[in-house]
Order: sequence, then C-alpha cells, then structure tokens
Amino acid sequence: AAKYRPFPPVQLAGRKWPNRTIDRAPIWMSTDLRDGNQALIEPMNIEQKLEFFEMLVAIGFKEIEVGFPSASQTDFDFVRKLIDEKRIPGDVTIEVLVQSRADLIARTFEALEGAPRAIVHQYNAIAPSFRRIVFNASKDDVKALAVDGARLIKEHTQRRPGTHWTYEYSPETFSMTELAFAREVCDAVSAVWRPTPEHKMIVNLPATVEAATPNVFADQIEWMDRNLAYRDSIVLSVHPHNDRGTAVAAAELALLAGADRIEGCLFGNGERTGNVDLVTLALNLYTQGIDPGLDFSNIDRVRRVVERCNAIAVHPRHPYAGELVFTAFSGSHQDAIRKGLAQQKSDGLWEVPYLPIDPADVGRGYEAVIRVNSQSGKGGATFLLERGLGFAPPRRVQIEFSHAVQRIADDSGAEVTGDALCALFSREYFDV
Ligand code: KIV
Ligand code: ZN
Repeated sequence: AAKYRPFPPVQLAGRKWPNRTIDRAPIWMSTDLRDGNQALIEPMNIEQKLEFFEMLVAIGFKEIEVGFPSASQTDFDFVRKLIDEKRIPGDVTIEVLVQSRADLIARTFEALEGAPRAIVHQYNAIAPSFRRIVFNASKDDVKALAVDGARLIKEHTQRRPGTHWTYEYSPETFSMTELAFAREVCDAVSAVWRPTPEHKMIVNLPATVEAATPNVFADQIEWMDRNLAYRDSIVLSVHPHNDRGTAVAAAELALLAGADRIEGCLFGNGERTGNVDLVTLALNLYTQGIDPGLDFSNIDRVRRVVERCNAIAVHPRHPYAGELVFTAFSGSHQDAIRKGLAQQKSDGLWEVPYLPIDPADVGRGYEAVIRVNSQSGKGGATFLLERGLGFAPPRRVQIEFSHAVQRIADDSGAEVTGDALCALFSREYFDV
C-alpha cells in the first residue's frame, strides 16, 4: 500500500479537478557548486567542493554543475581533479558554465579535456534592461553573441569526440524578456546546434531575478514549450531564483506547464534569496506519492555537510529539514498527533495530523515530535509520560498532571523536558 498519495482528484460540474497534477519527477540539476558557491561569503575550497560533490552523487544527482572554470582557478583545478582522479561515476554528467567569449570557451574546454561526459552551459543576458543599461547592445547584437558562442562551442566539441557532449543554452534574465525575442534567440542557437531526439540539447529558462507571481513564470514556460523550434529535441529546463519567496511554487507550476528539468540548490542556497530549493521540491513530490529519484532518507547528514561547506545555517523551520519542523508545542496539535501516531498502521497510508511526512522517512526520530512548554496541554504531557515511563495515567490524572506541568512552565517560561516531566510525575504520584 502506498504510504503517501497525490491530492485525490474529484469531479466538479462534470470536470476533473484539479485538472493537472505533477505525475513524475523532473531531471534534477544541482548547481550548488556553481550558483550556490558564487553566492557564498567564502567560496568553497577544493576539498569542500569534493565532499559536496560526493554527497550530491550519493543523493542521486545525475547532472551536477561543478563550477565556472574559465572564471576561477579553484573551479578549473576542481574540474581537472574530478577528471584526472576519475571521480565522476559513469552515470553522472558534470556541467560547467561559460560566457559567449572565445577565450573563456577555449579555457573551459581545457578544463574539460578528457571528461567522459560533460554539459557545456553557455549564457548571456537578453532582457531589455540589460541590453540598454549593462551592454548598450541591440537585440541583434545580443542574438549574435549567443549564436557565435554556440558555434564556437560546437567546433570545440567536434574536435574532441572522446567526450559525450551536451550543450545547454541559458538566455539569462529570460523571465524579464519579451517572449518572442527569447524564443528567437533560443531558436537561433538551436539552429546552430541542430539537436535531434537522440542527442538533445538543453534550453534552460532562468528567472534570474524572480519578478512576478509563479503563474506568470509558468505561462512563459508554457508559451516556450508550445512555440520553441526543435522542441522534441530539447530538454526544457527552468532555473528559478527566490527573490519573491515563491521559487518552489514557480518550479512546480513550470513542471505543470511543460518543463522537463529543474536547476537549483540544496536548501535554497544561491544568489541573493537563493536558487530554488531542491530538497523541498523533491520531498513535496515524495509526499504526493511520486518517487523523486533523490535520496533524502538521512536529511540531517545532508544538512550538516551543506551547513559546513556553505557556512550558512539551515533555518530551524526549513521545510522537511529544519530542527523544529516535526515539533508541536501547542496542546491541540499534540493531542491530534498523539492520537494519529497511536492509530497509524505500519503499512498504511500516512495519516498523522500536522505531520505531512513521517519523520522516519527523512531519518528523524519521534523524540522531538512533542515538546512541552506553557502552550502545551494534556496530550503533550501524556505523550512524554508514555515515552518515558511506558504508560498513560487515567484521564483524570492526565488532566490534573498537565495543569501542574503548565503552572511550572508558566512560572519558568521555559520548556519542560521529558526527563523533568517524568521525574515530576514520579515524585507527585509515586513519591519517588
Ligand atoms: O540565474 C541565472 O540566470 C543563472 C544563469 C547563468 C543560468 O544563474
Ligand atoms: Zn542563477
């Protein structure tokens, strides 16, 4: 029996509702070592990058952007290390970022020499504000820059047939660009690469700066999905940032709108407010009964490595991973959780109130699920007694004892731990 299931559709006025749900996992691409890294106060060193890379592989990522080797010596050396020391598993493809400049492209291929498989990710900004303010360039200039870069990259790959090459093009600032022009640039680049259904290229559409509600981004993706040339030979990718705090929603709606692939970072690290959080996206799928193909069954370990390498703490209320996300302090929540856990069948649908996921599925225990302070009621105190002493007192005693606990918590203003609570109960009722 499935432990989680998708939101059950219903018939409303003769129509299925909701009419679209996500029914499969996207291709995931972690850009922790590139977009995530470039946002850190102190970028990762080679050892940290290696530890992070190996963890991403263990989680199940098959596409990993490992750096910007033409822009950073550390990234160049890291790519060389991965290749020279044969640290890239056969089913994993490394990806590197590069701008449309001949010298940078040449340096990038120097870094990638001998790689078994690689994605070369070319980008240039195309939005009107960037054309006017940053580059003083016309639409034609911007398109020519993209096309010239694509040509150069193609030539480099043709000279190195020993590597399985994939080409990725990102019209940076896509979501702030006139749609018809974005399509024109992508089509021009695709015409250089000439992808086929057997050897696809990636068109990656970034919300470089998230500037609209997620449905607007999804509409842009849907339009590109319907209008891009070579669509059946293109992996349509999205790259949401989180400036409005809605990157996860934008990515999910983009999947419904036709995207095949998502680029992001673990726990939403990345420039400014971050890239889209891949942990939340993957576990959102999981709790809808869809195998994300990524293993977060030991979320604390993943969190520890990420916190150490990024030197940024994951928020205690971060979805699925935060220290406090499986903890209830309030009485009514505790009562519902206690009843839910007592009735939960080990092979049944997960139906514990207030817990959208079984903490055990991400490697967390149940100790932290119920913690007692002045907001707590008899359900919480009883849960801790059951855990600590192995039995629940009669209902009258539960009520009386929880009032005593509440008075103590109110006086101290602090949490009453399970040990303190059991000791108090033993003193009051057993005189020990
Ligand atoms: O946010 C962005 O647009 C990028 C591109 C380089 C893909 O990171
Ligand atoms: Zn980005």
